[in-house]
Amino acid sequence: MTHLLEVEDLQVNYGHIRALKGISLHVASGEVVAILGANGAGKTTLMRTLSGLIKPAAGKVTFDGHDTTRMGADRIVRLGIAQSPEGRRVFGTLTVEENLHMGGFTRPPAEIAASCAHVYQIFPRLHERRAQLAGTLSGGEQQMLAIGRALVTKPRLLLLDEPSLGLAPIIVRNIFKVLSDVRKTDVTVLIVEQNARMALKFADRGYVLEVGKLSHEGPARELLASPEIQAAYLGRG
Ligand SMILES: Nc1ncnc2c1ncn2[C@@H]1O[C@H](COP(=O)(O)OP(=O)(O)OP(=O)(O)O)[C@@H](O)[C@H]1O
Ligand SMILES: [Mg+2]
Repeated sequence: MTHLLEVEDLQVNYGHIRALKGISLHVASGEVVAILGANGAGKTTLMRTLSGLIKPAAGKVTFDGHDTTRMGADRIVRLGIAQSPEGRRVFGTLTVEENLHMGGFTRPPAEIAASCAHVYQIFPRLHERRAQLAGTLSGGEQQMLAIGRALVTKPRLLLLDEPSLGLAPIIVRNIFKVLSDVRKTDVTVLIVEQNARMALKFADRGYVLEVGKLSHEGPARELLASPEIQAAYLGRG
């Protein structure tokens, strides 16, 4: 069976640091898959490699039947993968609307307005703030914009790197509620999170990354119930 995303024995090095030591995973169309892992495990490295921002030393990435292993980032976006990066990275001196337009660079100009309208429907707050400079948005609003900017490309696979980072619990719940709506629109999601409990409640399946190697994988429910995962990643509660 072929999956929307297939990753085979992926290896990524930064000089002599081996950040990904041969990992294999898959994401089926329509799934939400969570990657858990401590700081420095290689989660962001994986996301950036899937987006074409980092070139792997070895291994293979296949998206929808296309070999994207060494493809440029813009072609990968055009194929249907969009990333909401760690730390949000919105363009602070541009308005909300301009940020969304930048995100929509792969869309035909005539479709950008409709794509933006779709994002404003998902995040009404962004519509209210559309003329505001992104750098003056709150942290939660910037996270919405980062996700919105990825959604403007009409991705089939949405990569989310730590969408809850640094946000108050109520904002985190709001963002996950919106993401639940997004997944109903046929968007497949690969999410990286240190908030493991939140991510596993949202996901169908999960993988655990430990310093560049996958250590566990399984249905999200099983990972949530596993004493080992609870002790290492879920804390109390
Ligand atoms: N540009 C870089 N140059 C050298 N080493 C890097 C670079 N980027 C990441 N690393 C190293 O690669 C390893 C994996 O980093 P990565 O950012 O992928 O981890 P992460 O799982 O996303 O961590 P966090 O939870 O803190 O975001 C770390 O040891 C990190 O120091
Ligand atoms: Mg990271």
